Amino acid sequence: MIEEIPLSRPEINEDDQRAVMQVLRSGRLSIGPMIEQFESEFAELVGRRHAIGCSSGTAGLHMALLAHGIGPGDEVITTPFSFIASSNCIVYVGATPVFVDIEPKSLNMDPDLIEAAITPRTKAILAVEVFGSPAHMATYRAIADRHDLKLIEDSCEGLGGRWRDRAIGSFGHSAVFGFYPNKQITTGEGGMVVTNDDRVADVCRALRNQGRAPSGTAGNAGNWLHHELIGFNYRMSEINAALGLSQIRRLDAIIERRQQVASRYIERLMGNPELLVPTVEPETLMSWFVFVVRLRSGYSSVERDRILDGMRRHDVGCSAYFPCIHLQPCYRERFGTHEGSFPIAESASQRTIALPFYTDMSPRDTDFAAQTLELMITRETFSRE
Ligand SMILES: Cc1ncc(COP(=O)(O)O)c(C=O)c1O
Repeated sequence: MIEEIPLSRPEINEDDQRAVMQVLRSGRLSIGPMIEQFESEFAELVGRRHAIGCSSGTAGLHMALLAHGIGPGDEVITTPFSFIASSNCIVYVGATPVFVDIEPKSLNMDPDLIEAAITPRTKAILAVEVFGSPAHMATYRAIADRHDLKLIEDSCEGLGGRWRDRAIGSFGHSAVFGFYPNKQITTGEGGMVVTNDDRVADVCRALRNQGRAPSGTAGNAGNWLHHELIGFNYRMSEINAALGLSQIRRLDAIIERRQQVASRYIERLMGNPELLVPTVEPETLMSWFVFVVRLRSGYSSVERDRILDGMRRHDVGCSAYFPCIHLQPCYRERFGTHEGSFPIAESASQRTIALPFYTDMSPRDTDFAAQTLELMITRETFSRE
């Protein structure tokens, strides 16, 4: 029997297991040395003054927007081609997401469309490194600075990537990372806000801990029940932080091994005329989050979905990354958004196929996934004729 090739899976080694066990044995499961060490090494890696660990990327985005003072009546420019959390955080704070279409090569927001979307109510640009690509981040920052807006970088998919000499997470006034198990490194669930702004960092530290001032720790009973802000429980436990710390210490090796998987797919699929295979600009160090190909224009979403079904029937995990956010039922209902508004994003989204991709993926499984994709495409084109 062929074993299923999953779409994604985390790599947990013995060091990771030892690190987690050590925390369990210590009895200190929250607010302790692991989160402090993880934050300190993370800040250094991304080259920012502060790193604030939290319970998820979504929680980090929520706090970052609040800390930058974004709220009801404000508009935030963002991409419709992303995981839904990058827009939901704007809705959480009572602001309005203003979508602009994407640029078809990198699939990131089209920088040429941003200025036309700025109004007197615009407070920020929330930019996403889609699938890990840092394309246009420096341009977004220049636009934000020119118009006195904040740039919030949703770096949940890009840990370890670089553009020229700049790390992903260093372009925005603040940036947010996520550590769900399909990410480059995982903490199980977890996130990290990074910033050079002392005040934003203080507010995020308070918000994640029920609005307590940063000195309000469990060991400080006088401050533990004193709440300066309406906050949340968005803390990251010591167990999660220990796992993240252990993983981040081998990030370079993880990026390198993911690059090998991506290179094998590229080599194998590049010549297929039915496919657009991702390319990486020379100035980019890509930290691959997922490996997403696109069917060439002319394929419908029904045909793409049939190809996905066929791959799944052959035990190859795959997915349609991403359905457009503005076409999700909850956005249509709340904002009246509809088809035809962002043609580039909509067209890309109908033709994408995320292939199985993870750090310890074997060359054999990579070849099998690529071969199955090609077979399903051939079958689909035959059934057309
Ligand atoms: C672009 C983007 N933003 C936000 C998130 C949310 O992160 P989390 O799942 O940790 O809440 C994700 C996670 O998949 C993401 O890909």
